[in-house]
Amino acid sequence: MCGIIAYTGIGPALPILIRGLRRLEYRGYDSAGVALLDNGLLTRIRAVGKIDVLSEKIKDQELLGTTGIAHTRWATHGGVTEENAHPHTALGGKLMIVHNGIIENYRELKESLLSDVQSLPPEEPVDFKSQTDTEVLAHLIAKHYQGDLRRAVETALSHVRGTYGLVVMHADHPDILVAARMGSPLVIGMDSTGHYIASDATPILAYTNKVMFLDDGEVAEVTSTSVKTYNLHDEYVEKHLEHIDWDEKQAERQGFSHFMLKEIFDQPTVFQDAIRGRYNIAEGTAQLGGINLTDNQMREINRVIFIACGTASHAAMIGKYAFERLAGIPAEVEVASEFRYRDPVIDTHTLVFAISQSGETADTIAAVREAKRRGAVVRGIVNAVGSTIARETDGGTYIHAGPELAVASTKAYTNMVAVLLLYALQFGRLRRLSLATGTRVVDALREVAEKMKQTLQLSEEIKKIAQKYSGYRDMMFLGRGINFPVALEGSLKLKETSYIHSEAYPGGEMKHGALALLSPDFPVFGIMTKNQLYEKMRSNIEEVRARGVNVILLATEGDSSAQELADDVIYVPETMELLEPLINTIPLQLFAYHMAVILGRDVDRPRNLAKSVTVE
Ligand code: G6P
Repeated sequence: MCGIIAYTGIGPALPILIRGLRRLEYRGYDSAGVALLDNGLLTRIRAVGKIDVLSEKIKDQELLGTTGIAHTRWATHGGVTEENAHPHTALGGKLMIVHNGIIENYRELKESLLSDVQSLPPEEPVDFKSQTDTEVLAHLIAKHYQGDLRRAVETALSHVRGTYGLVVMHADHPDILVAARMGSPLVIGMDSTGHYIASDATPILAYTNKVMFLDDGEVAEVTSTSVKTYNLHDEYVEKHLEHIDWDEKQAERQGFSHFMLKEIFDQPTVFQDAIRGRYNIAEGTAQLGGINLTDNQMREINRVIFIACGTASHAAMIGKYAFERLAGIPAEVEVASEFRYRDPVIDTHTLVFAISQSGETADTIAAVREAKRRGAVVRGIVNAVGSTIARETDGGTYIHAGPELAVASTKAYTNMVAVLLLYALQFGRLRRLSLATGTRVVDALREVAEKMKQTLQLSEEIKKIAQKYSGYRDMMFLGRGINFPVALEGSLKLKETSYIHSEAYPGGEMKHGALALLSPDFPVFGIMTKNQLYEKMRSNIEEVRARGVNVILLATEGDSSAQELADDVIYVPETMELLEPLINTIPLQLFAYHMAVILGRDVDRPRNLAKSVTVE
């Protein structure tokens, strides 16, 4: 969702801010803006639409200055207009702010500010130009400003309810940025030229890997040469630098036409990053030390709950199958937005895994806090290093997928599945799983990357199939067992990137309703690879076929009989049943990708969606 980049240093700020905004585009936005401070004068430029529109507006202006803030906005309060775009101002343009999050009590704060108007000097007008909660915050800070910007921010925030990641600047303090965090992440990066503040590390990676993560309730006073952090009671807080091992190159398209395609093709490599050093061939097990539990504590876990949203919840479903099959531990999956408002039955033997690419999904964070409150053992399976979920859980595992920038998640899903399989193996070997089966899983895992590469070679063939089906408005994905979550994921990928209506069903459930939908205008994409449910799935596809429905089938190499049942067959390499999602999802990702390109969609940034949903 909204993104922040700010800089103060000895270099010109504008190029850093514009480049940073482009890096933040992946989060999803509908307007953008920058403000620069030069010779005691603040200049602000904002535009609705893409960063290109903003750059075009800036082009003819001489915007110098070595301190500035910038923002991409994803509308929550107030429509998509230039007036509502950030930065917002107060004190007649002397104070500027960019803000992520939601100020829940902004209405009452606004009323109180408006009732103060009479008592304020005329040069400090409280004049609301937008419908945003952020502008209220700007005026609230202005109200408490008495020459010390950080103190003004701290006092203002003591009146605020809600979430924020914000950066403020003031014309009278040419070298100071004040940043504060509550619920919306902020990262501060440092190099030899100065300091960067951003809502995630991606816009900073071009300059430095040395970063500091602000925690909730912290305020930082950042100058070109120093960073001082305080809590909201104005007490100094000692912070440490951390090192992020992502680099700028990973966050580039590297010749691929879209990030989504690049990230699909990244999968064999990042999958190896996810499993490297985490399995033990001799003992047929996995060794994920980050779980921070002794073997005995792991044996005492009698229930596993996965909480996640979107694609991560589909990875979680695969985790459920794996935990039950390999470890014999009852496992459940719940989308975080439901879990957080339920009355979940949890005790100290319940292990809750929070699964998230960004580590910043608001509902998942809230669910983590709820699970902790109820005494569960809570661990994270996260991609973004230093993210809120990574920090708030008492251990867990990074999935090492590298920066994922396309809104539609692909490689993060694969690596979530990889880590979940490893965990299931580790728990299994501490309980009932034999060395022989454990070894088979490890051996099969080690062959996956090669099979992924083979599957990726199907891209052109899948493109042709997508072309053939691009005129349809509906599609049904069918799978059974471990391939049901794969069907759900294929369906989600298709709808989010190409806007084609799609559904996903377990093959055996079709007869209880969904079959009524099918007609020659409603094709089916079936996953019918050779596993223990193969015959069952075959019967389901025959039922569909008997109704004159067009069928695409994903089948195992060598299964020539699949041709009899389908108009189009995509053959994938065989693997162990539990590992099938690692291979079978790839053609579905490619199908969605090519379909979206054929239909002229904004593949990496589908309408209405955001990469990281940081509000409820
Ligand atoms: C958004 C993204 C999805 C993602 C989901 C969960 O909806 O568009 O791609 O799966 O959030 O995000 P997380 O970062 O928690 O995995």
